[in-house]
Amino acid sequence: PASDPDLVARARAAKEALGDRVFILGHHYQRDEVIQFADVTGDSFKLARDAAARPEAEFIVFCGVHFMAESADILTSDSQAVVLPDMAAGCSMADMANINQVDDAWAQLEEAGIASRTVPVTYMNSTAAIKAFCGEHGGVVCTSSNAEVALRWAFDKVGGVEGDGKVLFMPDQHLGRNTAVLQLGLSLDDCIVWDPRKPLGGNTPEAIEAARMILWKGHCSVHGRFRKENVDAIRAKVPGVNVLVHPECAHDVVTAADYVGSTEYIIKTLDAAEPGSAWVIGTELNLVRRLANAHADKDVHFLEDTVCFCSTMNRIDLPHLVWALESLVAGEVPNRIVVDDETQRLAKIALDRMLALPA
Ligand code: 13P
Ligand code: SF4
Repeated sequence: PASDPDLVARARAAKEALGDRVFILGHHYQRDEVIQFADVTGDSFKLARDAAARPEAEFIVFCGVHFMAESADILTSDSQAVVLPDMAAGCSMADMANINQVDDAWAQLEEAGIASRTVPVTYMNSTAAIKAFCGEHGGVVCTSSNAEVALRWAFDKVGGVEGDGKVLFMPDQHLGRNTAVLQLGLSLDDCIVWDPRKPLGGNTPEAIEAARMILWKGHCSVHGRFRKENVDAIRAKVPGVNVLVHPECAHDVVTAADYVGSTEYIIKTLDAAEPGSAWVIGTELNLVRRLANAHADKDVHFLEDTVCFCSTMNRIDLPHLVWALESLVAGEVPNRIVVDDETQRLAKIALDRMLALPA
């Protein structure tokens, strides 16, 4: 549905009143009614990099989810306030790993004599505390657009991909597995899953010793809905269709696809596609719909028939954005995201390592 014209006018007026004092970042999964007000749109990596692009802005309004806003707070100066228009905009995947569980897992790996040969790597979709853990223990943050280079960097610290060192990858088992197997050439047998509710993550000491990738038992509930059968069905229905999916999808879905990458990659791939070509996209529905509208000269399908929004991304709607902007105009800073100093210091080490990786 079209955005409420009254709210659009209020958002426009508030943004104009704030001028250069406000910088609005929008993730690609945001609603159209919100994304139209973003100064910059991007995937998680681009938004982390761009958060620091406007040091003169007093307020960074982050239209995305909590872990992204935390990262923006870490990467911007203390005088800049990061605002998340709805505090309930979390990420169910990020919630699947908490710092106590990670500390506990690491203590068990230390006890087993394995931690010294293991580099922790956390997906951007994690709490600031877990990023700080990685900063403190020689690890790095990655996103879906740089997971391969981040994993190579991590393995290089413990003898290389060909060696016998390990990576503890948190919290998305799928991104970890897909990258290790499809891009680094490791095998599925090199990967084990760490279930934080079980001793040794549910593994034997021998299995951990033999593993190269210790994958946290986490996943995205949105991308988890796509099945290989969906890929088979659309290939049967639309001959010659190009299958383009996000690496948070399960391994058999990614293996069955033609193209795999971050939201930014998905957009660029569609931009470069031939007119008349057919595409099916396995990622969040706001983005797929926007792409289908923007590419009327192509045949764009969604990989699954039932509605598949990210419910937490969708919490940032136009009423919340208007409320946040009008509060700033009125001199209040609502829903400020503040990461404590020590967590910031350590998490920034891991984020800076990511930002320094070769493109
Ligand atoms: P991107 O980094 O590809 O934008 O992905 C972020 C995310 O949360 C996907 O679910
Ligand atoms: Fe988290 Fe999945 Fe939503 Fe991305 S799509 S923010 S990983 S729940």
